[in-house]
Amino acid sequence: MNILQKEVARRRTFAIISHPDAGKTTLTEKLLLFGGAIHLAGAVKAKKNSRGATSDWMAVERERGISVTSSVMKFEYDGHEINLLDTPGHQDFSEDTYRVLTAVDSVLMVIDSAKGVEVQTKKLMEVCRMRNTPIMTFINKLDRDGQEPIELLDDIETNLGIECAPLTWPVGMGKGFKGVYDLRRDELRFFVPDGQKSTRPTNVVNVKGLDDPQLDDLLGRDAQDLRGDAELLAGAGHPFDHKRYLAARQTPVFFGSAINNFGIQELLDTFVALAPPPQPREAETGTNGKAGTRIVSPLEPDFSGVVFKIQANMDPAHRDRIAFLRIISGHFEKGMRVRHHRIGKDVQIANATIFMAHDRTGVEEAWPGDIIGVHNHGTIKIGDTFSIKEPLKFTGIPSFAPEHFRRVRLRDPMRAKQLEKGLLQLCEEGAVQVFRPLRTNDYLLGAVGPLQFEVTMARLKDEYNVDAGYEPIDITGARWITGGKDAKKFIADNGRDIATDIDGDVVYLVSNPWRLERLLETYDDIVLQTIKEHR
Ligand code: G4P
Repeated sequence: MNILQKEVARRRTFAIISHPDAGKTTLTEKLLLFGGAIHLAGAVKAKKNSRGATSDWMAVERERGISVTSSVMKFEYDGHEINLLDTPGHQDFSEDTYRVLTAVDSVLMVIDSAKGVEVQTKKLMEVCRMRNTPIMTFINKLDRDGQEPIELLDDIETNLGIECAPLTWPVGMGKGFKGVYDLRRDELRFFVPDGQKSTRPTNVVNVKGLDDPQLDDLLGRDAQDLRGDAELLAGAGHPFDHKRYLAARQTPVFFGSAINNFGIQELLDTFVALAPPPQPREAETGTNGKAGTRIVSPLEPDFSGVVFKIQANMDPAHRDRIAFLRIISGHFEKGMRVRHHRIGKDVQIANATIFMAHDRTGVEEAWPGDIIGVHNHGTIKIGDTFSIKEPLKFTGIPSFAPEHFRRVRLRDPMRAKQLEKGLLQLCEEGAVQVFRPLRTNDYLLGAVGPLQFEVTMARLKDEYNVDAGYEPIDITGARWITGGKDAKKFIADNGRDIATDIDGDVVYLVSNPWRLERLLETYDDIVLQTIKEHR
């Protein structure tokens, strides 16, 4: 094995997805604790609620007590290099989350045992499905009364359309929660309800399978329930199949209680053992994708990477903007000259940053699966590819049709240039989408979640010194017009509702869904889309 193969094999790049309040922050913190990246429980939580730490870059964030930004936490565990990509908890920033999900090789899904599958879990799952991202599931809060474990699995299978393969099984719940039975190792792991802030090993007892009479001594009546559940599972459940997990057809399921550090060790051990290392990725080749597409393997020696996120003002002292680049192939070295393909320029990456759990440091070298932060002076756009020489453009970073719209009203007409520049850059960073109607000179902003508007306005003021406001507008959706024989005529006949986006792509702005339906009956040879690629 050469060094590149070795470095790729030991990397795991993933994100945690969940509906708010299921326990994503708590689990993140516990993973970092077990990974030795932090030594104090409460550290991540403190950050989440902080009024002064890294997340205070935006007034909006402070006022609302939410974390808008997301970042990367790198830590080592059992010889593996783990990159945990954080995603914004607030659903108004789900577009950002979707983009982060394009940069991971697998995800960990957290489900609240009392609530089961929730709305946001479903939406995030749909995004994972677009790329067949493997998913491991952690059912949390077993220390509270929740739904029956079998029902929870059924809920996941029915509502998320993925097979469940439980690897542990809970014994009791709530006040009667005794622990979990490790179905693969035939181990009983006892729950110690103490909210302990340490990672000391759980009390583990090995038994000789579920028929072992020792179980009755250890669990009393719960032993029979456990056997009953196991029988049910043997009949109706799915045995774990690594290939099906990697193909995103099956999710291994763990039960535990994040706040009590319970179930984390098995989860993390299994995660590093089974989760996929950095994966190959499809790219368009040749200038402007003219030569076709090919699969780029992480094991190719030439460096390549793609920008999936741009974050502004992470450090309020510097007002900097960082482009997050996921390395797809080869080896990155400090000072490397790489080609920025969209603008056709060679650039030297001298001051890239790597994000540790609570710190960021200069990168000397990095490998596929790693995320490096590159300073962006307004030239980098989401979806941009950097590589050593071959013209490449990685695909698969989606832009979603907004569901909320506002018209921008500039208060000081002398600042029109700055407004244009600011909106363009904020749009390129993915903070908001900007549309120009065909028939007016307005700027229409589109967002997946309305808080994006607040962030945009605050940043226009802060960074571009533009005093502007919003006017409501009667638009509830947008469809990119991507083809069909009737497209030209459709655009000509409906000019009032047509606009272009930042790339010059044409969209139909929906103010009345019924009207759109009727139009589609008239112009039936037309392709309208709600998702498009960043380019
Ligand atoms: P999120 O990031 O997914 O939004 O969830 P977060 O970790 O913030 O957890 C949401 C709430 O659930 C928190 O309570 C947290 O303490 C609690 N929680 C997390 N894991 C467990 C668990 O295993 N058992 C129980 N019983 N609760 C759990 P909170 O009251 O909102 O916050 P806090 O006051 O505890 O910090």
